[in-house]
Amino acid sequence: MAWDILIRNIKGLVQTCDHTTGAITGASMATLPVLENSYLAISNGLIEAYGTMDTLPQSATAKTEIDASGRFVFPSFVDSHTHLIFAASREEEFVMKIKGATYEEIAAKGGGILNSAKKLQTVSEDELFAHAMVRINEIISTGTGAVEIKSGYGLTVKDELKMLRVAKRIGKESPLTVKTTFLGAHAVPRDKTKEEYIDLVIKEMIPAIAEEKLADYIDVFCEQGFFSQAETERMVGEGKRFGMKPRIHANQLHRSGGVQAGVNTGALSVDHLENIGDEEIEYLKNSSVMPTALPGAAFFLGLPFPPARKIIEAGLALAIASDYNPGSAPSGNMQLMLSLACIKMKMTPEEAINAATINTAVALELENTHGSISKGKVANVFITKPMSSVAFLPYAFGSNCIETTILSGNVIS
Ligand code: NIG
Ligand code: FE
Repeated sequence: MAWDILIRNIKGLVQTCDHTTGAITGASMATLPVLENSYLAISNGLIEAYGTMDTLPQSATAKTEIDASGRFVFPSFVDSHTHLIFAASREEEFVMKIKGATYEEIAAKGGGILNSAKKLQTVSEDELFAHAMVRINEIISTGTGAVEIKSGYGLTVKDELKMLRVAKRIGKESPLTVKTTFLGAHAVPRDKTKEEYIDLVIKEMIPAIAEEKLADYIDVFCEQGFFSQAETERMVGEGKRFGMKPRIHANQLHRSGGVQAGVNTGALSVDHLENIGDEEIEYLKNSSVMPTALPGAAFFLGLPFPPARKIIEAGLALAIASDYNPGSAPSGNMQLMLSLACIKMKMTPEEAINAATINTAVALELENTHGSISKGKVANVFITKPMSSVAFLPYAFGSNCIETTILSGNVIS
């Protein structure tokens, strides 16, 4: 047996499963399979074999052998919601927030999404790519192996196309698996009425993006002051006709009808959920939409956190993503998202890890290739520093617990 990589003596191999289970829901989220004293073999970029050390064939050899004594091996995180292509940070708004301004007040003063759009429109595709790659390398170093990237800071046909071309290029030139989402309906630009802009999204942006095959998904910021439930359903309905499945920014600031729009249109996920009640939870029960919490955004904006316990206790699945963006979540560190999920949303470490691996993989239709240690899946894994238990990772908030990163079977660092 000659493998490409053999990792031996793993203290705990996390999230092992030999069959594709789909989303992990409700009470099952509390269970996380961890194989103690184990090995993991990788060949041709894929997970080839794993098991306990006593089942490792004596003849086993590999081009690269790694001793993981005292260390855990995790499947890389799948981050199912980011806006990591942007031209500039917005720390001036951060200071306004510290002094008491709300998200809406900042937007009214020329900040917010329109501020990011103004900056992005002046930057070339190459520059944008270079900026984004810095963030890509940063999220690789904190454990992400697959990522969804949205447009939505272009707000013109030309600039939305520019963003999505950059996202596609990241998929080709970085070691990450990338899914792309068209979020033209992120805000209404100042030179248009809402009706005019919705018209542009439907009649020009969606067809142009579909023509170049630039987006897997379509998203809308369904929120008071942005786009209503009816407008959301109309635009994602149009996206669906062009092959883009919906995922919705839902219920971040208000009970916006976003969850209902997601369920009604058969969305893959409804994301944010800071403002949901029993009605939205009931609605989700009759669907396969993945509820997705973005704890970094709730933390940064000082919003109430999504009611994770209620969602899980209702028997639903829950996913966790970073929302990495310059306005409301300037971090794509999924380890930190796990800490926030545990500390602020009262999820157990096992629930949080399920939420950020297999459940986000389901939300991105990557469950057959990512999100768990399974034979035949893409070899996207990280080896931790020496740790006493799996719970140490979310417990040690702000630390980087990762020592070695392997993506598509290549040791990255
Ligand atoms: O997911 N809520 C809408 N979009 C982003 C924030 C965008 C921004 O402020 O730039 C979010 O939080
Ligand atoms: Fe977002």
